[in-house]
Amino acid sequence: MRTEEAFVPGLEGVIAAETAISLLDTEQEKIIIRGHDLIDLSKRKKYADVVYLLLEGSLPSDSEREALERKLKENYDVPKTVNDVLKLLPNDTHPMDGQRTSVSVLAGFDSTINDRSEAANKKRAYALLGKLPAITANSYRILTNQELVEPDHDLDYSANFLYMITGKKPTELEAEIFDRSLLLYSEHEMPNSTFTARVIASTQADMYGALPGAVSSLKGSLHGGANEAVMYMLQEANSVDKFEELLHKKLQRKEKIMGFGHRVYMKKMDPRALMMKESLEQLCDLKGDSLLLDMCEAGERVMAEEKGLYPNLDYYAAPVYWMLGIPIPLYTPIFFSSRTAGLCAHITEQHANNRLFRPRVKYTGKRDL
Ligand SMILES: CC(C)(COP(=O)(O)OP(=O)(O)OC[C@H]1O[C@@H](n2cnc3c(N)ncnc32)[C@H](O)[C@@H]1OP(=O)(O)O)[C@@H](O)C(=O)NCCC(=O)NCCS
Repeated sequence: MRTEEAFVPGLEGVIAAETAISLLDTEQEKIIIRGHDLIDLSKRKKYADVVYLLLEGSLPSDSEREALERKLKENYDVPKTVNDVLKLLPNDTHPMDGQRTSVSVLAGFDSTINDRSEAANKKRAYALLGKLPAITANSYRILTNQELVEPDHDLDYSANFLYMITGKKPTELEAEIFDRSLLLYSEHEMPNSTFTARVIASTQADMYGALPGAVSSLKGSLHGGANEAVMYMLQEANSVDKFEELLHKKLQRKEKIMGFGHRVYMKKMDPRALMMKESLEQLCDLKGDSLLLDMCEAGERVMAEEKGLYPNLDYYAAPVYWMLGIPIPLYTPIFFSSRTAGLCAHITEQHANNRLFRPRVKYTGKRDL
């Protein structure tokens, strides 16, 4: 039994779970997803392949990927109640809260909710992933009084997701870049949201309970919320000089700069950020406008010189999403949608091999009053 001397604030470096899903391998500098290097996957595979890999344990054959795409499409429709509930929310509700509420609402529609077997959890995961493009896009549309967009079954999963958000059919390059962003966001070992989901699942709570916990965690600016915060900073500055000035001012005030730093790879650039930076370069070239890239590179220089800190994925995902025409309040909901693949794999794994999370405390209160 461990004693209070074992206390580690923020559980930094503590091994909290056994998993066969993923690892941030700091020695080999790789993000390993069920034996595969995530960055390598991002160069040759699609998000749907990684969804399959996360939930089934191996990469799909062509026919298995096609079957998965079909399964996701069969699940596109969302119960009317979800949209009815969203319509009751105040318009300034953040889509992340709309998304959390929608996932909760779905619980009542699952007649097998008490079945936590691996097969039932996987079926549920595919059903949720199928519904998330509509939930994500339409929660924003309802909250901003816009017409709902119906899914386009002729497009593949990611292209349809982007279409439902922007209301415009994406070009091949736009669809590819969006798909890559989903793949890069799909799984990342044990961030706060995954830990939260596993902690909740460890009470034998169902997926509809564990996932809203993860949405809440992800919304925080120290976690997924950073991608939105980055874009607001870039928007506020709107020029290279003003962006540098803004960062210097924030650093003087000892503020954290969103999009930089990471609990695990603090002194290196997040390899996923590098992939998104490439996508930003492609989009800037295509549109003949390099302002966002120039600003981001200037920010990188300031942070490396002043703090020895490097960008994480959120730093480059933000301007990429902006150039894809995605409204800023949807950046973190998109992160959650894609991460649902990894989260569902973790919840399934936790249910299959469970030990209730129940840590102890270092008590600093009074005694014997
Ligand atoms: C991700 C994050 C929470 C990890 O932080 P952590 O492991 O808790 O590290 P700490 O907050 O203890 O930071 C260690 C040092 O680096 C500094 N630091 C870390 N991230 C920083 C940032 N983004 N901007 C400025 N300084 C930062 C801290 O101020 C601290 O410096 P000090 O020792 O001089 O006080 C942190 O880097 C952060 O807040 N980043 C911005 C939010 C973000 O982009 N989140 C998405 C993560 S994927």
